Amino acid sequence: MRHYCYTSLAPDLGDAEFEAIIARAHQRNRALAIGGIVSFRNGVICQILEGPAKNLEVLVPVILADPRHCGVATISDARIPAIGFADFGMVRVSPLDVALRSIAIIDRIGAGRSKSGPAQLDLVLSAPPRSVHLLQSAGAA
Ligand SMILES: Cc1cc2nc3c(=O)[nH]c(=O)nc-3n(C[C@H](O)[C@H](O)[C@H](O)COP(=O)(O)O)c2cc1C
Repeated sequence: MRHYCYTSLAPDLGDAEFEAIIARAHQRNRALAIGGIVSFRNGVICQILEGPAKNLEVLVPVILADPRHCGVATISDARIPAIGFADFGMVRVSPLDVALRSIAIIDRIGAGRSKSGPAQLDLVLSAPPRSVHLLQSAGAA
């Protein structure tokens, strides 16, 4: 199994168009036994995909080459023992929270690579909205 997370930019994509892309993606991902989450806010995307490595090998390059977004940066790309997401869909947390969740998942699996203790990882995995507020107040300042 493989875990893959990236962020990208789609400043001109509307919410309705994005939701239509994800509705189709949901069906295709389910057929490929791929789970995960995706967040879209203020033109920023962050998506986690988990599934059989062979299926991700086919799908990830297709997604990354999609002209509806750009500026792709990989956050995590790792082999994992099992999928942590039963399904695939949009989440209402910020893209940053999705990226932090991916980092925490990979940190936990690759024990010893993180300097953060288990309690800190638990905090990140519970997706606290604090980082969203920090982003918004930084933008407003
Ligand atoms: C940000 C973003 C995320 C996407 N995520 C997925 C995905 O998880 N699964 C999927 O099958 N297609 C996803 N797509 C769509 C693919 O890039 C591609 O358009 C699609 O697989 C092609 O199939 P279609 O021509 O039948 O739409 C995504 C596209 C974008 C822009």
